[in-house]
Amino acid sequence: MIRIDVITAFPEYFRGPFGESMIRQAQRRVGLEINLWDLRDFTHDAHRTVDDTPYGGGAGMVMKPEPFFEALEYLFGQGLPREQTKIIYPSPQGKVFTNRVAQKLAQEKSLVFLCGHYKGIDQRVIDYWVDEEISIGDYVLTGGELATVVIVDAVIRWIPGVVGDIESVKSDSFEGDLLDAPYYTRPEIYRGLKVPDVLRSGNHQAIERWRLEKRIEKTRAVRPDLYKKFVEKNKL
Ligand SMILES: C[S@@+](CC[C@H](N)C(=O)[O-])C[C@H]1O[C@@H](n2cnc3c(N)ncnc32)[C@H](O)[C@@H]1O
Repeated sequence: MIRIDVITAFPEYFRGPFGESMIRQAQRRVGLEINLWDLRDFTHDAHRTVDDTPYGGGAGMVMKPEPFFEALEYLFGQGLPREQTKIIYPSPQGKVFTNRVAQKLAQEKSLVFLCGHYKGIDQRVIDYWVDEEISIGDYVLTGGELATVVIVDAVIRWIPGVVGDIESVKSDSFEGDLLDAPYYTRPEIYRGLKVPDVLRSGNHQAIERWRLEKRIEKTRAVRPDLYKKFVEKNKL
C-alpha cells in the first residue's frame, strides 16, 4: 500500500487522527501517502452545496452525485491508476469489516474512501464507481469519516514496517479465530493484585500454554461465534 485518498465534505475531521500515532508512523516509516480532498472544492455554486432533497420524498438529505464524480475524475485525471485503485464506500449496507478484510486491503496499491453523510450518497455514485461497500458494524454513524479512520487504522497495521514487530500484529485478537490473552507489566504486585506466577516463571512453554488457555477461555465466554470457528477449524 502506498497511497490513500479520502474524499470528504469535512476534511478537518481527519486532522487529529491522521496527524497522530500509527498513521503518522506509517507516513514516516513506509512512505504511506494520505491525501484529503474537500468535496466542496468540486462544487460550482456560491454555497458549495453537496446535498439535496431525495427524489421520492422522505426525511433527510442525499449527497449529490456531481461533486463525487468530479472529484474522482480529477483524481484519476491526475495520474492515479484506476485499475490499481480500490474505491471504498464505508456504509452500514456494506460487508462487515474484519481483520481479514484489513489484511487484504493492506495489499492494495491505492485506496480511495468516499465519505457519506445524511441519508447517504446518490446511488449512481455507488453503482458507477464503488468497488467495495464496507460496514464497520451493525450501527449507524452520522458520517463516513469515523468509519474511514477506523478502516485506515486497522489496514495500515498490516503494512510491513508500520508496527515495529509484525509478529505482534499476528498475535492480536482474531488471529487463529481467538481473542488475545491478558497482559501484565510492572509492578509485580499493585495494590495487592498479583501478576500470575506463570508469567514470571521463565518457562516459555508453560507461558504459551497458559496464554492459549486464556485465549480459548475468553473467546468461549464472549464470542461463541468465533469459538465455534476455532473448534471447527482445529477439529476439537
Ligand atoms: C446516517 S448514515 C446513512 C445511513 C443510510 N441511510 C442507511 O441506513 O444505510 C451517513 C453515512 O455514515 C456512514 N456510516 C454510517 N454508519 C456506518 C457504518 N456502520 N459503517 C460504515 N459507514 C457508516 C456512511 O458513509 C453513510 O453514508
